[in-house]
Amino acid sequence: MSTGQVQPKLIIHGGAGSSLKGKGGLVALRQSLHKIIEEVYALLQEGASASEAVVRGCQLLEDDPRFNAGTGSVLQSDGQIRMSASLMDGTAQKFSGAINVSRVKNPINLAKFLQSCRDRVLSDYGAAELLRELQLPIYNPLTDKRLQEWMDERKENFSRTMADVVAEPAGSGTIGVVALDSTGAIAAGTSTGGKGFERIGRVSDSAMPAGNYANAKAGISCTGIGEDIIDECLAARIVVRVTDGLSLATAFERSFAESERNQRDLGAIGIDATGAIAWGKTCEVILAAYHNGETIGDTLEWQTAPGVATA
Ligand code: GLY
Repeated sequence: MSTGQVQPKLIIHGGAGSSLKGKGGLVALRQSLHKIIEEVYALLQEGASASEAVVRGCQLLEDDPRFNAGTGSVLQSDGQIRMSASLMDGTAQKFSGAINVSRVKNPINLAKFLQSCRDRVLSDYGAAELLRELQLPIYNPLTDKRLQEWMDERKENFSRTMADVVAEPAGSGTIGVVALDSTGAIAAGTSTGGKGFERIGRVSDSAMPAGNYANAKAGISCTGIGEDIIDECLAARIVVRVTDGLSLATAFERSFAESERNQRDLGAIGIDATGAIAWGKTCEVILAAYHNGETIGDTLEWQTAPGVATA
């Protein structure tokens, strides 16, 4: 049972992109996303804060090698993994994040630690120093699948602009979590290995307010091509629209109509303070699952593109 007045809500994503190639991949992905929803929603029912739930959800998604965050992150052009993650506490309206960090299991843990620091967004060198300071164990998030993908691409001289967003049997994609807790507080978290094959030093949207943003009214996590998300400033744009009085559904509809007009390749999930849940995409699929207080649902077979939907 929830300890507060508000019925908790939860939505998570494991990326967006081209369609799933077969039923096998879909079944495994559904199982993985639903299991994470079950565990994290139970925390919210026990009274966990939105930020605590978001951090736990991000950790679980980072630990699943299907997704392009934490273990299973894609390799950059030089064959290295550099990950980015951010957390936004909507009540405090505080953003924290780590950009292009290596050799750590859960980049979201750095974002969590940075919430209470004076300097709240650290990039590569500073993030590495923080890892040492926190004495987090050295961890290699590389998987065979991602190494093979990079080696194959190297033979093709990196002609692709990004790694697979939805691959099978291992899927992939930036991950994100948005939660509304039993006190009515909202938080959003996003974590990624980046696009894959990118230049050294390229900065992802996932640790920017363009890709992850929340206040007391709404929280949003984005996925897709980082540059497109940054150009739309999508997460902040939707949150500002809700803050100015639009419903979450209308804020998604307007923002995705603009993204579509601008030929962007992206997706987003969100929750507002009324408990509305929404998702949208300009690409073929968004791998999202949610708990609306009554039941678990997902978007894995939702083909409408471009599109916006609510639960
Ligand atoms: N949205 C993840 C990235 O482009 O880095």
